[in-house]
Amino acid sequence: MALQVEVTQPKVTRRLSARPRRSRRTPALRALVRETRLHPSMFIAPLFVRPGRGVREPIVSLPGVERLSPDEAAREAQRLARLGVGGVILFGLPDTKDAFGTEASASDGIVQVAIERIRDLGLPLVLVADTCLCEYTDHGHCGPLAADLSVDNDAALERLAETAVAQARAGADVVAPSAMMDGQVGAIRTALNDSGYDQTLVMAYASKAASSFYGPFREAADSAPAFGDRRGYQMDPANGREALREMALDVEEGADILLVKPALPSLDLVAAAHDRFELPVAAYQVSGEYAMIAAAGERGWVDRRAVLTESVTSIARAGADIVITYGAGELAGWLQEGS
Ligand code: PBG
Repeated sequence: MALQVEVTQPKVTRRLSARPRRSRRTPALRALVRETRLHPSMFIAPLFVRPGRGVREPIVSLPGVERLSPDEAAREAQRLARLGVGGVILFGLPDTKDAFGTEASASDGIVQVAIERIRDLGLPLVLVADTCLCEYTDHGHCGPLAADLSVDNDAALERLAETAVAQARAGADVVAPSAMMDGQVGAIRTALNDSGYDQTLVMAYASKAASSFYGPFREAADSAPAFGDRRGYQMDPANGREALREMALDVEEGADILLVKPALPSLDLVAAAHDRFELPVAAYQVSGEYAMIAAAGERGWVDRRAVLTESVTSIARAGADIVITYGAGELAGWLQEGS
């Protein structure tokens, strides 16, 4: 027996006044009511700089990202500026490593050399230097070690302050302390002011988790700890209220921008940072977040462009004014095309 389908006019629902789908009917309507719009000027692109000339070295776990010699970093900065990207953040692979991370603060240290190169081009790009020691210490931790092999917080503060001053002297507009040492923002602010760099901003990695999403970065920057892990200084990813305390301390110590990291796993913290504090909020879509999208994209399991765009849009929707992402150049290109 054939199934009898009775089509009735749904009189009650026809009287519905609230119909959210009305605003989704055409692309033009959807564009009109869109709450979150990405713009290239809100992106910061990470650059890994290494010694040499004319060197572009692919990073296996970060497809599309390369280690660059200073001349190539300058070319890349030029390309990103043409795309309208807001800024670059530099990480260094030094010639030599030692117990104190001496090259981090050397006037001819790799990041300082690259910043000077880029600065001399006079590009409309904000130059950010990541201020940490793990890429420069032979043990791979973010500060000098104490006798018990923990990181000596206050010895690290001195080294971080010296590093920030060297970066500012080279031309960094912004220094971004990422070592998660207590008091690092205050120590850096004081040192910058005392050295005549009162116009250099501090973007504080205020809430930085001891995250497993940093794996590809540590390969890229050769900065994996030689022993142990970073849980004695980076935050437990399980703690949200403690993250707010870290942010409040950084605000008190004079931070200009609050950074939350990683991004997608911490959207609650991005939203809280935006609600509670009046400072601009940045979020770092870290290496593991990017690598997962890149890998699934390569396999055809997700659409790389759509997923990168959606993830960065979600980070912005949560409250990030600034997004550090390995997809910065690509996203800016797509926005120029008018995606
Ligand atoms: C330096 C630093 C790290 C990242 C940014 N700054 C590595 C770490 O803390 O181990 C990670 C960025 C990324 O994964 O993309 N301390």
